[in-house]
Amino acid sequence: MNHTSFIQQLPKVELHLHIEGSLEPEMMFELAQRNHIALPYDSPQAVKEAYQFHNLQSFLDIYYQGANVLIHEQDFYDLTWAYLLRCQQDNVIHTEIFFDPQTHTERGIAFDTVVNGIYRALQDGEKQLGISSQLIMCFLRHLDEDSAFATLELALPHKDKIVGVGLDSSELGHPPEKFQRVFEKALAEGFLTVAHAGEEGPVSNIYNSLSLLKTTRIDHGVRCVDDPQLVQQLAEQRIPLTVCPLSNLKLKVFETMDEHNIVELLRQGLCVTINSDDPSYFGGYMTDNFLAVANAHSMTKQELAQFTLNAIEASFVDEAHKQRMVDKVVAALSSAE
Ligand code: ADE
Ligand code: ZN
Repeated sequence: MNHTSFIQQLPKVELHLHIEGSLEPEMMFELAQRNHIALPYDSPQAVKEAYQFHNLQSFLDIYYQGANVLIHEQDFYDLTWAYLLRCQQDNVIHTEIFFDPQTHTERGIAFDTVVNGIYRALQDGEKQLGISSQLIMCFLRHLDEDSAFATLELALPHKDKIVGVGLDSSELGHPPEKFQRVFEKALAEGFLTVAHAGEEGPVSNIYNSLSLLKTTRIDHGVRCVDDPQLVQQLAEQRIPLTVCPLSNLKLKVFETMDEHNIVELLRQGLCVTINSDDPSYFGGYMTDNFLAVANAHSMTKQELAQFTLNAIEASFVDEAHKQRMVDKVVAALSSAE
């Protein structure tokens, strides 16, 4: 079996996906029409052509604008359902997705509208597609601490739907220490914590996410290589990094996939995983991300499967669920021989 077929049939687990980043231009147009919202583009093709980014901020500006078409609970449902159908195509068996409530509450959309629409689709995904999932709420780090506290308050009645909190948006100038007190409250309320760190920002953001925000995973984290001692700590403690290869290329974190450090980190024993981040903006879902890495770096099937095994290890589900997923990966490996 060649690498392409192997990757296609390999069970996958996604741990870093912003649901707003799965909004395809076609759906953006459909929702704009349904909700009578004017778009600054005249076709889905024009939207795609506008997706030329030179760093994280240039992407975020366009990304927040795109989310304006999401108004009703059904819109959030349709968005999430479309993503789950893509998961099914890519043999994603489990996904832990982010949503950014402030992107919506700041425009007057109720928190409950957002979370109920997403969650209902995730439940249907489990029932109808057999895809298990978890939901993580991210705070926008360019907004202030008060806004994050208010958002956490809104999430409390939805604890049964939300497993953890995260931190995303503009990393430069908004370090983790800005949200230490919010994360303390979230931890006290029983949420797990994660944070984007070391995507564009310095290694101190990785250290401080771990020590101050008590994060159990680091989203991105690829800049850890600037500090060999940190790399050693991440390997020894098996602290997961949710790496997003195509995102890193599009946002110029790496110039080419050949220069990407994910395979080097895997071989150094780090718990690195492959994820799609904002697939509609960065040109690919899970299978595309695996293929992009495998086409640039010569790897064995065992190494490719290790990305999924790492993601299972890093996932927020119980041990029995993890074991069932491991069994599926082992079966895929043995049938590929
Ligand atoms: N929001 C959506 N995608 C993001 C990324 N890659 N980094 C920070 N914030 C984000
Ligand atoms: Zn992200």
